[in-house]
Amino acid sequence: MSVLAVVGAQWGDEGKGKITDWLAGDVGTVVRGQGGSNAGHTVVIDGESHKLHLLPSGILRSEVLAIAGAGMVIDPEQLLVELEQLGDSRGKLLISERAHVVMPYHRLLDGAEERAKEGGAAGTPGKGIGPAYGDRATRFGIRMGDLLEPQTLRERLERVVPRTQALLDYYGTGDRLELEQLYDLAASWGATLESSIGNASLAIAERLDRGVLLEGAQGVHIDIDHGIYPFVTSSSPTPAGMAQGAGIAPGLIERVVGVTKAYVTRVGTGPFPTELEDATGEHMRDVGGEFGTTTGRPRRCGWLDMVMLEHSQRLCGFSELAITKLDVLGGLDEIQVCTAYETPHGRLEHFPASMTLLAECTPIYETLAGWPALSPAEWQAAAAAGSLPAEVNDFITFLTSRLGVPAGLLSFGPDREATLRLR
Ligand code: GDP
Ligand code: IMO
Ligand code: MG
Repeated sequence: MSVLAVVGAQWGDEGKGKITDWLAGDVGTVVRGQGGSNAGHTVVIDGESHKLHLLPSGILRSEVLAIAGAGMVIDPEQLLVELEQLGDSRGKLLISERAHVVMPYHRLLDGAEERAKEGGAAGTPGKGIGPAYGDRATRFGIRMGDLLEPQTLRERLERVVPRTQALLDYYGTGDRLELEQLYDLAASWGATLESSIGNASLAIAERLDRGVLLEGAQGVHIDIDHGIYPFVTSSSPTPAGMAQGAGIAPGLIERVVGVTKAYVTRVGTGPFPTELEDATGEHMRDVGGEFGTTTGRPRRCGWLDMVMLEHSQRLCGFSELAITKLDVLGGLDEIQVCTAYETPHGRLEHFPASMTLLAECTPIYETLAGWPALSPAEWQAAAAAGSLPAEVNDFITFLTSRLGVPAGLLSFGPDREATLRLR
């Protein structure tokens, strides 16, 4: 019986998809417990790139059952596109009957509400995630299982459509919701996906002996409770949130892999203390291909921030780290790592809740030696021979000893093979 969780330790896009795919070779089941198509997970296998938004990355392994858990919000339109792209993988997917449905009006509301917030907008990709979780919390939501019950589906829509129409009118979007059209669309999703909808929690419990991997979406610092509110997502990308969303007892998680880039990126708005708006930031964006998987937006880039990671460690209890994108820093003379913040009110060692205070934080850096730019083949050879550049080892020692968490995996390229297991 073994459950492991793969968690994004920063602001998302740490390489969770790649690490999940790699570790999924050891398990029978991969579960996503939270988030929706706001996630974008890229997995590269033998040079071929797969971009997944809703489907758990484990679906790329033929022997794995992929499960979309109760805590997810699922846009069936997007799900069907992804299934189509993969060929008919539906036999390998189970969707919780309790997961909530992202309806077309959630996307409309997402756009309208972001526009209404002006300076306070989170910079969402407009996938309807916040409004879908909002309807879940106010009990106006529609669940995947409701798509299979015509009477329930109709009753739910009769309740939610007039309210949503009033909200859209309030925002002046000019959109008109047609209940019958929405009913037909939702019922057709139910008919298409019926054989894939079921009891996810039970299925996981029955498959524990073959190993279960919980695949995180988003990152700890955009957690609804513990992230940079209000620039956050609407779910909890922590092991606790993932267990809750999957429908398993949190105590079953034996291993928590915290995925962190060797630097930091952010899509979306909000204060970002170590952000680099200079040639080094450009280097990270260009060499790291830091453009959003979901939107193509350029990601904001900056130095690794230990204050952030210490906050993540407190919430997640990582048993090991997977450190990604080590290749991207190759060729820089020096590497900076932020270890505390200077503020007008004094030195700060802990990540603040106040966005006003975070915006006033200036990083205090320690400077480490950079390492040479290596080709993919050179990284591969160095990893195979156990002879990574000394500066890489020094960087990893600095990070892991400060955090008190060992490195379990190192990643030095997008491809599945560009991975080194240390433990
Ligand atoms: P996720 O959301 O955490 O799964 O991460 P994304 O897939 O959104 O973003 C990570 C990006 O970096 C993807 O394009 C990956 O293919 C790529 N990637 C992952 N690990 C590495 C690595 O070690 N080096 C490089 N150069 N790219 C990587
Ligand atoms: P993965 O799984 C990076 C960000 C959005 C926005 C905020 C709220 O690929 O790491 P939402 O649509 O969730 O209401 O948007 O959260 N965001 C992400 N940023 N990676 C993600 O997922 C993200 N999912 C949401 O950019 O700032
Ligand atoms: Mg991503």
